[in-house]
Amino acid sequence: MNNFLNSLDIIKKYQDSSGAYVASPNFSQYGFCWFRDSSFIARAMYRAGESICARKFFDWAVKVIRNNRPDIEKVLLKDKSELTHKDLLPTRYRVDGSANNDDWPNGQSDGYGTFLWVAHECCYEVPADVSKMVVNYIEKIWEVPCYDAWEEGPEYLHTSTLFSLAAGLKAQSIATGQKNCYELIIQKVLTQHTKNGRFVKSTGNDCVDSSLLWCSYPYALYSNGNELVINTVSEIERTLKKGCGLKRYLNDTYFGAGSWTLLSANLGSYYARNGEKEKALEIKRWLDTNFDSNGFLAEQIAENLLAPDMYEPWVKRWGNIASPLLWAHAEYINLCLDIQNS
Ligand code: BGC
Repeated sequence: MNNFLNSLDIIKKYQDSSGAYVASPNFSQYGFCWFRDSSFIARAMYRAGESICARKFFDWAVKVIRNNRPDIEKVLLKDKSELTHKDLLPTRYRVDGSANNDDWPNGQSDGYGTFLWVAHECCYEVPADVSKMVVNYIEKIWEVPCYDAWEEGPEYLHTSTLFSLAAGLKAQSIATGQKNCYELIIQKVLTQHTKNGRFVKSTGNDCVDSSLLWCSYPYALYSNGNELVINTVSEIERTLKKGCGLKRYLNDTYFGAGSWTLLSANLGSYYARNGEKEKALEIKRWLDTNFDSNGFLAEQIAENLLAPDMYEPWVKRWGNIASPLLWAHAEYINLCLDIQNS
């Protein structure tokens, strides 16, 4: 089986006719469309030549943001000091674009920055009324503590969330020539989210998190060779890389904290773009061995678990690890393309 072509097919197969990508069709909790996952998925599809598929998602996202206008206006009218994560836009939607009002930790801001950044990367012109709403929204809420990309830690500001917001605003500013606060966000990260010459996970945790990779890959907020990036990657390799697989962070317990396929692919892409092709190929080969007989790639590979006792309880609660995870297939596609271009 050709894992690259197969990954494209899986993503196309599970894209809803509305344009929404379901995070994982077979997993009880993931039958929704996340702005974060889907933006990254659209990027991979666009890069692989599937621009119609990517465009369908962008069109869907534009509609969803327009539907959110009343809520965005409410946020814009509020005093910054009164805002909490409960005021933020949803992180995941039903495929018809409606919000699912359950107890999911919805207040996560990163996906809207990722959406803006990816749309620019994919030459998708976000209508001016929508990009204006998103920029105003991000400018208002970026300092509001919220759940991170792993849907945890609502009391903190998370460094990778700030990277996503800064990347989206920066792309928008470059495209339009209009100033916004992205430099302020980057400045804040430099002064308050670093320690020992590297980035930290959040205002509440000085350790690294593999999502910190995103400052370099894919967002390229810092130049290749930047000391902070190099030191952060070294610390991620030292503490979170077991074999070829990357853990999310040290105290993770979700499904026992196995190896995250999408993060491992991201590290491979970082290597490919930084002159370390052999290391990128090694990760690709490891991923290749982890496609199952249906051609599915799971969210995590249950190996070298950091919290082995927590594997079974999660299986009991939600079933087997999500597979296929469309975002994982997307990052595999990106890794193949980055290796090819290196
Ligand atoms: C991850 C999120 C992801 C969601 C859907 C969660 O387990 O922590 O990053 O957006 O799954 O894939």
